[in-house]
Amino acid sequence: MFHHIVSYRRALVLILCTILFLEAQADSDICKICTCNSLTTNINCENRNLASIPQPIPTNAEYLNLKNNHISTINEGVFKGLSNLKKISLTNNKISRVEKGMFQGLRRLQTLILWNNNISTIEEGAFTGLSNLKKLDLDGNKISTLKQGIFNGLSNLTTLYLGANNISTIKQGIFSRFKNLKILYLKNNKISNIEKVMFQDLHSLETLYLGANNISTIKQGIFTRFKNLKTLDLRDNYISTIEECTFTGISNLKTLDLDSNKISTLKQGIFNGLSNLTTLYLQDNPIEHYEDGAFLFLPSIVEIYLPDNNLRCGCHLPAFVNYIKKVYNRTVAVSGTCHEGSGKRISILDYLQCQNYSLFQRNLQCQTCSGMKCTDLEVTSCPGAEPVCRFSISMNGAKLKTERSAAHTEMC
Ligand SMILES: *[C@@H]1O[C@H](CO)[C@@H](O)[C@H](O)[C@H]1NC(C)=O
Ligand SMILES: *[C@@H]1O[C@H](CO)[C@@H](O)[C@H](O)[C@H]1NC(C)=O
Ligand SMILES: *[C@@H]1O[C@H](CO)[C@@H](O)[C@H](O)[C@H]1NC(C)=O
Ligand SMILES: *[C@@H]1O[C@H](CO)[C@@H](O)[C@H](O)[C@H]1NC(C)=O
Ligand SMILES: *[C@@H]1O[C@H](CO)[C@@H](O)[C@H](O)[C@H]1NC(C)=O
Ligand SMILES: *[C@@H]1O[C@H](CO)[C@@H](O)[C@H](O)[C@H]1NC(C)=O
Ligand SMILES: *[C@@H]1O[C@H](CO)[C@@H](O)[C@H](O)[C@H]1NC(C)=O
Repeated sequence: MFHHIVSYRRALVLILCTILFLEAQADSDICKICTCNSLTTNINCENRNLASIPQPIPTNAEYLNLKNNHISTINEGVFKGLSNLKKISLTNNKISRVEKGMFQGLRRLQTLILWNNNISTIEEGAFTGLSNLKKLDLDGNKISTLKQGIFNGLSNLTTLYLGANNISTIKQGIFSRFKNLKILYLKNNKISNIEKVMFQDLHSLETLYLGANNISTIKQGIFTRFKNLKTLDLRDNYISTIEECTFTGISNLKTLDLDSNKISTLKQGIFNGLSNLTTLYLQDNPIEHYEDGAFLFLPSIVEIYLPDNNLRCGCHLPAFVNYIKKVYNRTVAVSGTCHEGSGKRISILDYLQCQNYSLFQRNLQCQTCSGMKCTDLEVTSCPGAEPVCRFSISMNGAKLKTERSAAHTEMC
């Protein structure tokens, strides 16, 4: 009797093994349509004219490429049990909805590419379970609104692409879980207003792309929380004025792109606080004039791009560049032309009427090292930012003028 039970068990094991073997055979069916490597960790279904995702997918799959097909829907459970998947690319398909739980179970997934689809609707909880996702690419879709809760569960995301969509507003809290987000790409949308609350929780953000939107004003203090921001792209917008202290707080910024906007004047002190800025793009604006002091407090600047403006020649930039060369043996490149009184165009730094122009020494110190104490000077407050000092400068040894400077506590 006992013996019988043992052989019955053996038979059962044998049957189970056969089933598993047959399942394994079925698993590899996707490899008849697509190209798989021998371990079926890498499955390439690019350009296969697929209308749906071939089933089943081997459970050891790590990379699934479904680029350039006609997939319009992803059925529930397609990715069930695929806990080894690290990357899925669905670039150039026809998906129009991302439904709740669509990607459930993909707990090791790091990259999800949904670039160039037809997505207009993302349901709340669409990405739940993707706790290891680092990069989500939703560029080139038809997203108009980002509903509350759609990004729930993506606590480890570092890169989010939402460019080339139809986004006009970002409600408070949408990005609130993105404590680790480093890159946010919102280029080529319809955003008109940027408010502080939109980005308030993005403490790790290093790169923010807001180019090719409909932004016309930047309010003061918008960016104060971006302690780690290194690149800010605001090109191709309708920005006409920048207030003093707009960029206060983002002292780690290295690149600021304001190309192709509507800026006509550069007021003194507008770049206050950008002590690490190396590259400043101001090309293709209608800038006619920059105030003395406009480029103060840029102690790390290396390049200033000013071509395609309508600039009147001035002495502040040549004096600033000469000073940095003379005192710090550092070259600052300034590109672009300006017109002299006669209308003749020359290189900005070639303006020759500046022999007697001298910036007040303390201002030069401020602009080059950013380290000055406000002690004997009148201290006023800068709305929503740090205090500023006031003191006078002399130009051509005669005219006295009040200038402002950021008050940093450390010395040069
Ligand atoms: C895109 O989605 C819309 C619905 O949101 C649908 O009407 C349209 O046919 C879709 N286009 C393609 C190319 O699938
Ligand atoms: C984020 O990813 C790390 C590994 O990169 C992992 O240890 C951690 O658990 C993840 N966080 C969450 C909230 O899943
Ligand atoms: C873009 O969004 C606006 C509302 O902000 C909407 O009226 C329009 O239909 C959207 N366009 C597309 C192509 O989805
Ligand atoms: C762009 O912004 C202006 C206001 O600054 C507004 O009148 C216009 O409707 C906006 N355009 C779009 C496409 O959102
Ligand atoms: C600027 O960059 C240097 C290194 O290049 C870094 O040590 C410093 O913390 C940065 N931030 C500020 C506010 O200067
Ligand atoms: C200035 O810097 C250059 C290299 O960038 C160096 O060759 C030169 O000796 C420096 N001059 C002085 C006076 O320190
Ligand atoms: C510059 O200053 C020198 C000496 O102070 C003076 O001789 C010269 O005329 C001044 N040039 C101009 C253009 O003001």
